[in-house]
Order: sequence, then structure tokens, then C-alpha cells
Amino acid sequence: MSKPKNIALGVLIGSIGTVGVAALGGIAYVYSGGYNVAATEPHAPTVRWALDTSYQNSVQTRSDAIEAPADFAPEMVEAGGSRYAEMCAHCHGAPGAEPAGWSRGMRPEPPILWHAASEWDSQEVFWLVKNGVKMSGMPAFGPDHDDAAIWEITAFVKELPGMQPETYESLTAGAGGHGNSTTTHTE
Ligand code: HEC
Repeated sequence: MSKPKNIALGVLIGSIGTVGVAALGGIAYVYSGGYNVAATEPHAPTVRWALDTSYQNSVQTRSDAIEAPADFAPEMVEAGGSRYAEMCAHCHGAPGAEPAGWSRGMRPEPPILWHAASEWDSQEVFWLVKNGVKMSGMPAFGPDHDDAAIWEITAFVKELPGMQPETYESLTAGAGGHGNSTTTHTE
């Protein structure tokens, strides 16, 4: 065998060996229980970075083909408001209403949506609400809500940034009771 071929073979075997040792190390770490999964501890910065980046890019890519309505009728915003008060406000808060205390113990902590909603396009909010987010506690509402209901929720969420507590109160006045509930799920 010629010299350059020997060197190339050596490099190849060395690389495979290194990757193998790293993979075994990773598997051993997973089995050892070394990573602290307690929600009281924040993620290690590299883990947080990997999760955040996959989260944002995944939602962006997967929602790209969804066509959002050009605008949302006031009735849609109102219907979405009742749904939001029933299904979302305890985790994400609302104008004039703090989220439930227990939701602050979640990791990641559910973002306060009247700040965060402006960072996501309508089709991204729709995708998030329909599909949820793995390993985060954000539920998928698609399995028991049709697309029309999810667009209503989206319409309301897009109105949230800058909404005054009085507006929220009037939009959601009928929420919480059973008589005025417009959710399609059965309990
Ligand atoms: C049990 C708590 C919980 C409930 C209920 C919940 N969410 Fe979430 N939601 C989360 C968490 C946690 C995240 C953050 C996901 C992450 O960062 O990986 C999130 C993320 C989001 C995001 C993206 C915000 C951002 O900047 O990351 C939107 C939009 C959203 N939720 C909308 C809703 C709507 C609308 C509802 C009601 C239909 C709802 N959520 C119900 C926990 C919840």
C-alpha cells in the first residue's frame, strides 16, 4: 500500500474511533442520570441553546406553507378571547391577569403572551396552538379543536400585544362559565 493511502486509512480509522468513543460517552451519561431534570434548575446553556434554536426554526419551517386569513373579523377575535381565557390564560397570563403561580414552576416558563405574541406571525401562532411543543408543556389543541376554532384563538392572540385590561375583560366577559363556552372538546 502506498504512503498517502496508509495515512488516509489511519485518519479514517482514527476519526471513526473518536466518534465511537464520544457516542459511548454520551450514552453512558444518559444512563448515569447525571443530567439534572429538575424544573427548579435551569437547563445548561448549550442544552437551552439547542432546544431554543430547534424550537424556533422548526416552527418557522413547518408553518411556512400555512395560509393565514388576510385579516380577522372582530367576531373571530371575540370568540378567540373566550377560548383564551378558558384554555391559555392560566399559563400565559392576560392583560390585567397574572398567570397561575404553578405555571411559574414550569421549565421552560410559559412566556407572557401579550409581550411574546408580536414575535410570531399568524401562521406560526396557528401552528403552535394546533401542534403544541414537545418537551415544553405547551399542549397541542389540534386533537380536540378544529381549524376554525384555532384561527379564532390565533386572531385573539395577535390582538394581545398592547391590549388594555378593560378590553380583555369586555372581550372575555362570558368566558369560564359553561353556558357561553364555545370550545368543541368534551369534558
Ligand atoms: C400548561 C401550560 C400551557 C398552556 C395551557 C398553554 N401553553 Fe402555550 N406555551 C407553554 C409553554 C411552556 C411554551 C414555551 C415553549 C418553549 O419555549 O419551548 C408555550 C409557548 C406558546 C407560544 C409561543 C410563544 C413563545 O414566544 O415561545 C404561543 C403563541 C402559545 N404558547 C400560545 C398558547 C395558546 C394560544 C394557548 C391556549 C389555546 C396556550 N398556549 C396554552 C405552555 C402552555
